[in-house]
Amino acid sequence: HGRYLYLYRDFWVPGYVLTGVISFQQNFQAKDTEIILVTFPKSGTTWLKALVYSIVNRKIFSFDNTPLNTSNVHELVPFLELNLYLNGLNPDLSGIPSPRVFTTHVPYPSLPESIKSTTCRIVYLCRNPFDNFISLWHFLMRTRPKDLEPLSLEYCFDKFCTGTCGYGPFWDHFLGFWNESLKNPNKVLFLMYEDMKMDNKLQMKRLADFLGYPFSENEEKEGVIEKISKFCSFEGMRDLQPNNSGDKVAERFDVASYFRKGEVGDWMNYLTPSMADRLKKVVEEKLRGSGLNLKLFG
Ligand code: A3P
Repeated sequence: HGRYLYLYRDFWVPGYVLTGVISFQQNFQAKDTEIILVTFPKSGTTWLKALVYSIVNRKIFSFDNTPLNTSNVHELVPFLELNLYLNGLNPDLSGIPSPRVFTTHVPYPSLPESIKSTTCRIVYLCRNPFDNFISLWHFLMRTRPKDLEPLSLEYCFDKFCTGTCGYGPFWDHFLGFWNESLKNPNKVLFLMYEDMKMDNKLQMKRLADFLGYPFSENEEKEGVIEKISKFCSFEGMRDLQPNNSGDKVAERFDVASYFRKGEVGDWMNYLTPSMADRLKKVVEEKLRGSGLNLKLFG
């Protein structure tokens, strides 16, 4: 049923996307030139999509004629299991121009074999779980079918802390890609939302270098990085016409609901000290010894 979570392999999948996840896993054929963006839901996927799309296409489009002005970002950089493989489809992706940029929320161990065996690159964006949770709760509330009871913050928080939410547990998600990025840094780039907020220019350079589209000295002098950064900023993206025109992602989620506040630390307006303490303990316990240090602010 679309409204339940299913334990599939070792993670929880929302029912409405289960066929999409399985079909994607079994049918997707990655090419060497592919770029796969991976995130835990509500960790800044929309932002990463806009940045990567703008970086790899910057020689083709100017800001005046970028397709981002006319199509919503989720159409240009589709979710594999949600936009393309939903309903058991095996879509013909051959018409999509190279470099193809796709997104998924599927954890590392369950990615299709072709993503692992080709030289395609994976960019992972991770967000501190406090803000990630608050963002998720707002999104669930906003997109929940109207005939269902609202979800309390406390209920959702408990599920999040025990790992029982879509694509959870979040710690397994983070660690799968973190460990892979340590083993194979040319394959997986691990980014943090908070770093992107703090020093967007530096993180964009890392991204561009990793993807094989480095910024030239001339581009740096001309302020190309700053221009892309501004164009893809929260305000810049939110105010683009196609992102607030009523378009839906997979005929389900309003594109506008992917833009809420876009800040670091909003969790402080919602979590009680004891909730923050509980989540901090979960994070510390699960990430101990991994070398992954999240800026928790808690
Ligand atoms: P908040 O709910 O904290 O505002 P996703 O894209 O993975 O669904 O994540 C959505 C979160 O990213 C939301 O967080 C949203 O506001 C934020 N976001 C969307 N676009 C952004 C941008 N260009 N820059 C920074 N944050 C952005």
